[in-house]
Amino acid sequence: MSIMTAVSENPVLWLLHRMKVKSIDYIAWRLKGRPLPCPHIIKEKTVQQYAKDYNLEFLVETGTFMGDMVCSTKGIFKNIISIELDPKLAEIAQKKFKNASNLTLPVTRNKHVLSHVWIDQNANKTKNT
Ligand SMILES: C[S@@+](CC[C@H](N)C(=O)[O-])C[C@H]1O[C@@H](n2cnc3c(N)ncnc32)[C@H](O)[C@@H]1O
Repeated sequence: MSIMTAVSENPVLWLLHRMKVKSIDYIAWRLKGRPLPCPHIIKEKTVQQYAKDYNLEFLVETGTFMGDMVCSTKGIFKNIISIELDPKLAEIAQKKFKNASNLTLPVTRNKHVLSHVWIDQNANKTKNT
């Protein structure tokens, strides 16, 4: 098991990870003079701000990874589809967010996933070919 999957699967490690993402990574980035790339929390805040500014209801993400973006936006978007290439990461995310009814977390075997994703009018069914 990789550190990444262990952190993602374990609720306590996940909480510590989210605290690190929200505070330590951000403070370290500021102290370093805000170099690129920016920390994940800036990406999260940017997506949240766009959702607010443009009244966005749907988020489609390629690469669920550990589920940070899903975690930080699940209370904002009406529907989120987050697609992951790695079956283990997808499985962990599906378990972790099983209680969130506005999420669809499919796994894909296709690297060109966006051209094969069909979203129905309710944005809750995804088909990968
Ligand atoms: C940089 S991380 C994604 C981070 C995430 N979008 C976020 O902002 O928190 C990369 C992830 O994308 C996945 N991935 C790479 N290519 C992909 C593809 N074509 N479709 C879906 N997932 C993909 C990898 O397995 C990995 O988990």
